Amino acid sequence: MNRISIKLGLLFLVFILLIEVGLFFYLYTGLAGTRISEELESLRLRGNSHREVLEKHHDSATLSHVALMESEAETDVIITDEDGKIIRTSTPLVKGAREAVEQWQGYSLRYKGEIMQGNWKNKPYIATASPIRLNKKNVGTVYMFENTKDIQDMIARLQHHFYIVGVISVLFSIITIFALSKFITLPLIRMKRATQKLSQGDFSVKLGAHSRDELGQLGTSIQTLANELHRLKEERNEFLSSISHELQTPLMYLKGYADVAKRQSNSEVERNKYLNIIEEEAQRLSQLVKDLFQLAQLDQHTFLIQKQNVKLYSYLHHIIQHFDLALKEKDIQLQLNCPQEIEVNIDPERFQQVVVNLLDNALKYSDNGTEILVIVRELPKKVTITFKDQGIGIPSTDLPYVFDKLYRVEKSRSRKSGGYGLGLSIVKEIVEAHGGAVTIESGVGKGTMVEILLREDV
Ligand SMILES: Nc1ncnc2c1ncn2[C@@H]1O[C@H](COP(=O)(O)OP(=O)(O)OP(=O)(O)O)[C@@H](O)[C@H]1O
Ligand SMILES: [Mg+2]
Repeated sequence: MNRISIKLGLLFLVFILLIEVGLFFYLYTGLAGTRISEELESLRLRGNSHREVLEKHHDSATLSHVALMESEAETDVIITDEDGKIIRTSTPLVKGAREAVEQWQGYSLRYKGEIMQGNWKNKPYIATASPIRLNKKNVGTVYMFENTKDIQDMIARLQHHFYIVGVISVLFSIITIFALSKFITLPLIRMKRATQKLSQGDFSVKLGAHSRDELGQLGTSIQTLANELHRLKEERNEFLSSISHELQTPLMYLKGYADVAKRQSNSEVERNKYLNIIEEEAQRLSQLVKDLFQLAQLDQHTFLIQKQNVKLYSYLHHIIQHFDLALKEKDIQLQLNCPQEIEVNIDPERFQQVVVNLLDNALKYSDNGTEILVIVRELPKKVTITFKDQGIGIPSTDLPYVFDKLYRVEKSRSRKSGGYGLGLSIVKEIVEAHGGAVTIESGVGKGTMVEILLREDV
C-alpha cells in the first residue's frame, strides 16, 4: 500500500460520501416535505368535506356517522360544539389528541381550514381544523388527526438505506484503493525507483512493457532517458580513453627526442633537427588541445553563434587564398564556383573553421596533380556548399564514422599527415549549430564530396 493510492482512494471516498449526503438531504427534505404537505392538504380537505356535510345536516345522526366513518379510516376526527366541548370522536383516537383540542380552544379559525399541527418530526400526529358555520355563526369545529408513524417509518427506512449505501461505499473505496495501488500507482512506484537509480548513476534500468496511456508514455520516456544516459556515459569513457591514448604517442615522441637531443655527442645540426621535431610535435599537441576545447564548448552549447550576412564569394575566396602555397606545393588546382551575389547568414569566424577543415582534408587526402572543386548553389530557401576532391576516398565501411570524434580511417596514414580525427566532428558541430546539415559521399580511388546545407530562414 502506498501513499498515492491512499490519497486517491480517500479522495474517491470523500467524493462518494459528499454525493451521498447531498442526495440524502435532498430526498429527506424534499421527499418528506412534499409527502407531509400532501397529507396535510388531504387532511384539511377531508375535514372540510365533513364540515360541509355537517352544515347541511347538523344533527346527532350525522355527527355519529362522521365519527363512525373516521373510526374505520386511517385518520381520526374530533368534533366540538360552539363552546369547544368535545361532542363526538372517532375511536381509537391518536394519543394526545383530546388534550390538544382542549388547548386549541379560542383560536379564530379560517373557514377554508387551518393547520393546527404540522410538526411531524416530533409529534405523534398532524392535525387540521375546519370550523362549522350555520347562518354565519360558529356552531362547532371538525378537528382532523393523522398518525405520523407511517411517515416517520418511511424516513427511518430512508435513513437505513443511506447507512447501507454509506457502508457499501466505504467498502468500495477500500477496494478502489487496492485496485488503484495495483494498476495505477504500481507503475508510478516502479518509475520512482527507476529514477532514483538513475540519479545514483545506475543506468541499468528496465521498466518492462508499457501501456499506451500517459503512464506508459512516461515509462517509455524514462527508459529512453536511461538508455541515452547509459550511451552518453559509455561514449564519454570511450572518448576519454581515446584521448589519453592519443596523447600518449606524441608525449612519447617528445620524451624520446628530448633524450636524444640531450646527448653530448650530438652535432649542432643534429640537435637543431631534434629540437625542431620537438617544437612541431608540441605545436600539434597544442592544436589537439585547442580542438578538444572547442569541441567541448560546442557540445555544451556554451558558445555563441554570432550570425551576420556574409557575401559568400569573397568570403570563400579569402579563405582559399591561405591555401595557395600548399596547393602549389602539391600542384593541385582549386576551382571556386560561386555566384557573386549570394549572401548567407553565418558566424564568419566559426564558419571559417568549417571551410578550413574541409579544404585541409581535401588537400591532405589527395594526390599531386589532382583537382579540388568548391561549388556553391542557391536553391529555394537554402544554399549548398560542396567540396569535391579527386583524392584517395574513404572506404564505405568507415564512412558512417568519419564525423565521430577522434575517428581516423587509417591511423598510420593520418598520423603521417598530422591529423587527430577531430576535423570533421568540428565541422558537423559548427554546421549543426548554424541550423544546417552536412553530408558526405565517397568512393575509394574516386574522391570525396562533402556537402554543407544552410537554410536561409534560420
Ligand atoms: N577528403 C577526404 N578524402 C579522403 N579521406 C578523408 C577526407 N576527409 C576525411 N577523410 C578521412 O576521414 C577521417 C576523419 O577526418 P577528420 O578531418 O575528422 O580527421 P583528420 O583529418 O584525420 O584529423 P584533423 O582534421 O583533426 O586534423 C580522416 O582521418 C580521413 O581518413
Ligand atoms: Mg581533417
